[in-house]
Amino acid sequence: MLLMGSDRSWLIIFMVFSSLLSLISGGSDSHDPEALDALFHYYANQTLAKHRTGTLYKIPLPSNFSGMEVSVIRLRSGSLWARGSNSSFIKIPPRVRAFPHVKRLAIVYENLGEWSSKYYQIPGYTLVSPVVGFNVYDFSNATTLSDRKVTLSTTSDPISIHFPYIEAEDKNVTELKCVKFGAGGSVEFKNMTARNVCVTGKAGHFSVVIPSMPEKKVRIWKWWVIGFVSATVGLVLLISVAAIIFILLRRLKMKAMEKASDNAENLDTFWVRGDKMPSASMIRTQPVLEHDYVP
Ligand SMILES: *[C@@H]1O[C@H](CO)[C@@H](O)[C@H](O)[C@H]1NC(C)=O
Ligand SMILES: *[C@@H]1O[C@H](CO)[C@@H](O)[C@H](O)[C@H]1NC(C)=O
Ligand SMILES: *[C@@H]1O[C@H](CO)[C@@H](O)[C@H](O)[C@H]1NC(C)=O
Ligand SMILES: *[C@@H]1O[C@H](CO)[C@@H](O)[C@H](O)[C@H]1NC(C)=O
Ligand SMILES: *[C@@H]1O[C@H](CO)[C@@H](O)[C@H](O)[C@H]1NC(C)=O
Ligand SMILES: *[C@@H]1O[C@H](CO)[C@@H](O)[C@H](O)[C@H]1NC(C)=O
Repeated sequence: MLLMGSDRSWLIIFMVFSSLLSLISGGSDSHDPEALDALFHYYANQTLAKHRTGTLYKIPLPSNFSGMEVSVIRLRSGSLWARGSNSSFIKIPPRVRAFPHVKRLAIVYENLGEWSSKYYQIPGYTLVSPVVGFNVYDFSNATTLSDRKVTLSTTSDPISIHFPYIEAEDKNVTELKCVKFGAGGSVEFKNMTARNVCVTGKAGHFSVVIPSMPEKKVRIWKWWVIGFVSATVGLVLLISVAAIIFILLRRLKMKAMEKASDNAENLDTFWVRGDKMPSASMIRTQPVLEHDYVP
């Protein structure tokens, strides 16, 4: 009975530890935007293999990406120069050059929808629109989409990004800023040019942000949270270690007591059954153990 009880305490300690571990590791699930782009590149290549004309195709994505919208178009550079290219949210005007010059290219347009803030964040700012963006790849080969990115350079109008929606009803709209997410986590702020519109000269990912709580307050608040959490974790660890030591000690004591009682019983039977080896029994009776046995 007592042994079962201590087994149960082991179970509880184990559960506390594993839930702590899952809390710590669960907070850091990684959403890598570059891996996402690579995946879209892969699906774009598959879609292009099935469709050969110069229209915009929606890329079917696995169900675990539902909420994102990705489409692709293949174009000749000459066609891009003459007519530009539009998706629902991004308008590339005519008179745009591809650099390096390639015969054909493919433009992958993305709208990350409700996934946006999982992949893109800026400390001190809140995204108020989905992240939309585009990448341009060399498609000269016409059978396989190259990994090589192509830079566009505008010669007259800029490329404009028309966000599907901006969630800032209760916010100060004069504080809205366009943001461009560049390679290696760099960010670039710009003023909006019209309601829901930002402009750019280059491919990338874009969103609209508003400053969140003042940076200083956020930081102090964060330290309070970190302090509280680490103190709690430390306390739980301390209690767990104390509990383990307590249980181990109790187990040792129990074992000693069992041994003592076994010995005592043996002695009893010895005494009752007769004085066959009284001297030997007396030697076996350890004074310390006997003393211990007395509750
Ligand atoms: C969806 O599943 C694919 C593989 O099946 C995986 O590579 C991808 O990371 C998953 N996407 C998300 C958003 O979890
Ligand atoms: C893109 O849209 C603009 C205006 O919204 C239009 O003038 C232009 O013809 C469109 N281009 C293409 C290739 O559809
Ligand atoms: C396109 O790429 C494939 C595989 O990399 C290659 O076998 C083929 O010759 C290339 N075609 C052209 C026109 O370059
Ligand atoms: C692109 O698709 C073609 C045709 O399905 C395939 O042969 C090629 O290996 C694919 N390339 C990449 C980079 O996935
Ligand atoms: C909005 O922000 C601007 C600039 O930060 C400031 O001058 C203005 O007073 C603010 N308006 C309101 C209503 O808070
Ligand atoms: C952005 O707008 C603010 C006022 O809203 C103005 O003070 C600032 O100069 C503008 N910045 C640029 C780069 O146009």
